[in-house]
This record gives sequence, C-alpha cells and structure tokens, in this order.
Amino acid sequence: MKARKPLVAGNWKMNGGTLANEHLFTGLRASIDRHLMSQVELLVCPPFPYLGQAAAWLGDTDIAWGAQNVASLESGAFTGEVSAAMLEDLGCKWTIVGHSERRTLLGEEDETIARKAEIALAHKLSVIYCIGETLDERERDITEEVLRQQIERAAPVIAGTTAERMVIAYEPVWAIGTGRSATPEQAQTVHEFIRTTLGAMGVQHARQIRIVYGGSVKAANALALFSMPDIDGGLIGGASLVADEFVGICRAAALG
Ligand code: PGA
Repeated sequence: MKARKPLVAGNWKMNGGTLANEHLFTGLRASIDRHLMSQVELLVCPPFPYLGQAAAWLGDTDIAWGAQNVASLESGAFTGEVSAAMLEDLGCKWTIVGHSERRTLLGEEDETIARKAEIALAHKLSVIYCIGETLDERERDITEEVLRQQIERAAPVIAGTTAERMVIAYEPVWAIGTGRSATPEQAQTVHEFIRTTLGAMGVQHARQIRIVYGGSVKAANALALFSMPDIDGGLIGGASLVADEFVGICRAAALG
C-alpha cells in the first residue's frame, strides 16, 4: 500500500436526475464498507442541484460529496454562479476546479482557476485541481511545457495549504470520455514530472501531495494505473455513473 491514501472521485458532469441518483447512492451505500473506506478516500461530485440529495444520502457515511466547480469571486451580482461560501454553508467538503471541459468549452484560464482554488480553501473546502494537455499539444511534444505553465500559478496556492486539502488531477484531454486511456507508463511519467515540478516550484510537501489520474478509467484498467508509484487514485467521469464500475475502481485503488 502507498504512503499516500488514494482518492477516488466521481465527476458526474451534467448527468443525473433524482431517481437515477437514488439508484446510484443506494448502490454505493450497499457496496462500500468501512474496511474499504479505511483504505481509500471516496468522493462524488454531482451537479449543483443534487448536492442536497448527496448530503441526505451520504451524510451518515464516510463517502464525501463535492461540487464540480465554484465561483472565483466571493459574492454579488454574478448570475448563475455558486460561491464557495454557499458550498461551505451546505456542508460540502470538496470542489473540482479547472476541469478541461471548463477550460476548453468555457474559456477558463489558469489565473481564474487558481483564484477559485484560493477562495475554496479559504472556505474550508478541499480542492481537486485539474491539469492536462490536448492531443495536439502531446503530438507537438509540448506536454511538459503546457503542464509546467498550468502548475506555475497553482504552485503557491498548493504550497500554502496541506497535502490533504489539495489534490492534483492529471487528465490528458485526449483521454477524457474517449475510451482511450493513457497507458499506466504514460501516466506515471507525467505524474512523476508533476511531482518533481511542484517540488522545484517550492512546494515543500510535493511528495505527500496526491496526484490522481483521470481519462477513461474503468474497473478493468484501474488497477494497472493505480499500481504506478505516483498515481494516487482517480478522477472518474463516465464510469462513476455506474455503481458497480465505480465500486470496482475504488477496490482497485485499495489494492494499487
Ligand atoms: P471520463 O472523464 O472518465 O469519462 O473519461 C474523466 C473526467 O473528465 O474527469
């Protein structure tokens, strides 16, 4: 078992509905026991309208629930935004920031993403901070350059908090929702690079930080990925919508 406790987080994206969620929560409650929870930290991130439902169904378990996004500003006239203070008020413990779908489809940039992380941390939320290269960037052989740039603004934020409260998710954009996962070796190479880069940028606890992998993780490929020395769990999209798949991935994280 690794020194860093693995984290498996389900990113439901814009999927779900009251009944479908109930089915999923029931499945998770039935299969995830205390023993598994002692080995793996678990988190589900439903869409905003269902956070209350997650609280009701998971509040008495050790499975945490979190948001997929948070505003970069404190409060005020920002139609459609949800603040860190509101999430804190609701009892939410986590938020994802900087997911590639928000970077590419909604134009979120590193500065905004880092501010989201800062404001979330100030409101006692823990943060999953996503980074990753596109297919074009990988093919042009500039993956490390792209990642270094994404990490640069985040590094002081990471340095200012504890290893438990900030997790990096490496998600190669070409692997998200495509069924084409990075190989364990490809992912390991990048995770090691991220860890080294964090250290070089002054993050003293770079060796304690969890770096999770995301991009077409399934129960069938999870163990090979999680067995890599620098892969500390996963951020799971499609497979987190199916209880058996998600539980299979959690079990793999306990073994990895
Ligand atoms: P996927 O998504 O598992 O469906 O590839 C991962 C993510 O976007 O977080």
